[in-house]
Formats: sequence, structure tokens, C-alpha cells
Amino acid sequence: MPSPKIVILGTGGTIAGQADASTQGVGYRAGQITVEGLIGAVPDLPQIAAGRTGAVLQAQQLAQIDSKDMDWSVWRSLLQAVSEGLADASVQALLITHGTDTLEETAWLLHAVLQPHKPVVLTCAMRPATSLQADGPQNLRDAVAVAAAGRAGVWVVAAGEVHAASEVLKVHPYRLNALRSYEGGPCACVEEGLVRWLVSEPVMQQAWTPEQLQALLARHDLPWVEVLQSGALQGRRAVHALLAAGVQGLVIEATGNATVHLDLQRALNAARSQGVKVWRSTRCLEGRPVGQGVVAENADDAIAARLAVAVDAQELDCVLLPPSKARVAMMLELARNS
Ligand code: SIN
Repeated sequence: MPSPKIVILGTGGTIAGQADASTQGVGYRAGQITVEGLIGAVPDLPQIAAGRTGAVLQAQQLAQIDSKDMDWSVWRSLLQAVSEGLADASVQALLITHGTDTLEETAWLLHAVLQPHKPVVLTCAMRPATSLQADGPQNLRDAVAVAAAGRAGVWVVAAGEVHAASEVLKVHPYRLNALRSYEGGPCACVEEGLVRWLVSEPVMQQAWTPEQLQALLARHDLPWVEVLQSGALQGRRAVHALLAAGVQGLVIEATGNATVHLDLQRALNAARSQGVKVWRSTRCLEGRPVGQGVVAENADDAIAARLAVAVDAQELDCVLLPPSKARVAMMLELARNS
């Protein structure tokens, strides 16, 4: 029987970045080194991949971009490649090399649409491959260890930590451990090639059906959703401009416990009556809106509940996702229902 495969999909990012000097940690060019080049920089990667099953690595370059420029065509190729890998019995796990800037959104996309029954692991770096402090090779080695460990789900591996797609956020523009799990901390640590899980296996939700996925992949773009912040002096003008331009959905990065400036709220109620979808999230960096009608009794329920929305007295739905993920979730919901 042929060996199972761990497929590594390259999309670019700082992990594949090059600078003119090894001392240069900013101002480099992201997305320069091929995925084969990244694999070649870790001497024992084939041994780590082999793990208990004897898996072999297979590389595929899907894109070569700075992830700040992520677009629907790259997301679509990624969804296609990952769903094909999930359906292929010879593929044990998939791994994606990605920039850190929009990693939390791509991870959410794959988690929300595919709910994979195999490991889908994203990894990245904060220093280019040419840096004295390059973190990409170790992150890739750790990510392959997570892929080989076999736990189903979408995982993000960086700085020795494993984060769930539903939780991970980029919280720092420079330091090596720039990613963080939203509130509860990482799901696992990777130590000398061994994965130490800190949480029990997640409960998967319903993935998109093959028909829904095909309809999604056939789209030329996702629906237009913008994030707007509520705060001091924040009123209706941005809403009016976006409505006039044809926006289809708005995620409000609301104050505190998902409260919205009265003037903005009036404009949002009007937007809703014109068929524009509006969700509130919170601009607080920690915690979730409380008392908004969503009850979560344990960690797994909490993850599930983040997909749920509740309606408040002003009829503005509240979603328990940070704004970056809420925006992707709304684009997907609008796409699924259109
Ligand atoms: C990117 O997101 O592609 C560049 C920044 C990074 O990877 O850290």
C-alpha cells in the first residue's frame, strides 16, 4: 500500500519572505521562496512527517502573495485544494503556509465551510526566511508534527503553540509570538516534535454540503461586507455612504458589551429595513458580549455558540465572534443564502 501523504500548500507570506540582509526584520518582500524551498530548509521534516503512519510530504504552490492582499481567487483555490485533499483517502493531513496578517480569516473560512475530519494545519512566520531570527523553519517543523499527530480540525501553529481556527487572532505586529487564542489560551504546545494537547477533541459542526460548496466555488466574488466601528462621534455618514455604494452587510465593531452609538444605530436600523444584514460584535480585545441571549456552558458549546446570533431589543443581531471572523462568517452566510 502506498504511504499516506501530508500535502503542503504554499500561499506566500513572511514565512516565504526574503530581505536584502539577514539583519532586516521589516521591509522585506513576502512570498518569494517556493514551498519546496521551505521544506528543504528543515533537515528532518520527512522524519517528522513519517510519524506513526510513515506519511510522506507532497508540496503544491497555490499562490505566492503577501496575505494582506488575500482575494477570493486564492481563497477559492485553497477551498478547492483542501476539499479535494479531504476527499482523497491517500491524504492524511493538509498543511498551508500563509502570511500572518489574514491568517485568522483564512483559518475561519476553512473551519466554517469544511469542518474537516482530518488535520488542516496553517503555519506562518514573523521573520523572513533570510533573517538571523527566522522562525519559519521551526514553525513548519511544528506544523508537520501537528499534521502527523492526526487530530481533526483546523489548527494554526506558531511559536510552539497550536490555536483553534475559531479562536486565533494576530495581536502583535512584530514579536515572534504574535498570534493568540482569543481568550482561553492555546489548544496544544509542540515540544521537540511532540504535540501536547491541552484541550479535548473539538466537536465538529455541520460542514457545507457538496452542492453548497460547488455553488460557493462557482461564485466570482463573495458578498460585500464591511466592518464599521462604533465609538465617540461615530454617526450615520459612513452607513449612508456604504448603502449608496451597494454594501450587502455590515459588522459593527461595537463598544463594550456590543452597544452602538444612538445615531449610528438609527442608520443601521434603516439599513436593515433596506435588506442589509447587520451584526454587532465588540471592539473589546477580550471577553464576549454578555446577556445577549446566547448561553454557553462549556468550551465546546462556546465555540458552537459563536456561530449563533441573538436579536436584542433594537433588533440588531449580536454575534460572539471577533469582527475579523464575523465579517467572513457574514460573507459566507450571505453567499450560502443567495
Ligand atoms: C503576510 O501576511 O503575508 C505578511 C506578514 C506576515 O506573514 O507576517
